[in-house]
Amino acid sequence: MALLEIKNLGISFGGLRAVDNFSITIEKGQLYGLIGPNGAGKTTIFNLLTGVYKPNAGTIFLDEENITGKKTVDINRAGIARTFQNIRLFKELSVLDNVKTGLHNSFQYSTVAGILRLPKYFKVEKEMDERAIELLKVFGLDGEKDILASNLPYGKQRKLEIARALATGPKLLLLDEPAAGMNPNETSELMDTIRFVRDNFDMTILLIEHDMKLVSGICERLTVLNFGQVLTQGKTADVLNDPEVIKAYLGE
Ligand SMILES: Nc1ncnc2c1ncn2[C@@H]1O[C@H](COP(=O)(O)OP(=O)(O)OP(=O)(O)O)[C@@H](O)[C@H]1O
Ligand SMILES: [Mg+2]
Repeated sequence: MALLEIKNLGISFGGLRAVDNFSITIEKGQLYGLIGPNGAGKTTIFNLLTGVYKPNAGTIFLDEENITGKKTVDINRAGIARTFQNIRLFKELSVLDNVKTGLHNSFQYSTVAGILRLPKYFKVEKEMDERAIELLKVFGLDGEKDILASNLPYGKQRKLEIARALATGPKLLLLDEPAAGMNPNETSELMDTIRFVRDNFDMTILLIEHDMKLVSGICERLTVLNFGQVLTQGKTADVLNDPEVIKAYLGE
């Protein structure tokens, strides 16, 4: 079975059918793009996938586990991590501590050990530091580990958010417009990083993006969403040459 299997997913807000009869199959290890005009429903699909919204219809299976309608924390534990269209970091925490907040899925000490600063506490903290620094290295952020997240330039904040998501040890990583606000150099670096993460972390990635250079450069398959519905899906080159897709983007 596929890593992610969504069937006939739907949600309405008042009279607006924001996502309608949405289905997608993503195989393990795929780098998959979700594209479509503004307001098409892309972020809403991420919110449905991560339990921010509960669907009115449809099913979501992750690695054969039915996660439809589950809570955000449980879905994260089941293996989905995300980044946000508007960056969300702990601005008053250091770069290192931001990544460490993601590591609590895999490292634990009891509250008592934490309060009493027992040896177990120091051991776990040290292991977490090491693991967090390893992750920061992937994103070229290890040199900035002690500065406040809010003091990082914008492009690096986006990378830090991805590092924190990875720290939770997901099976599926959702990136909502990771290149938004980046200059062409930062975007091309980000493309290399996303490929690196897929290859070296054995990751499956679904990303929303408007930057067509990024989409055509790294995504193997695409789904195009238009007015909450799938317009077309398939191999990237085929989808981007589809006249219907070109029409939706040009708004004719
Ligand atoms: N909580 C909500 N309540 C009411 N309407 C909502 C809610 N969330 C999303 N919508 C509406 O659903 C539609 C899809 O929004 P969504 O944010 O998913 O679009 P998008 O494809 O991510 O667009 P963009 O590319 O601009 O980020 C929009 O019309 C939006 O206003
Ligand atoms: Mg969006």
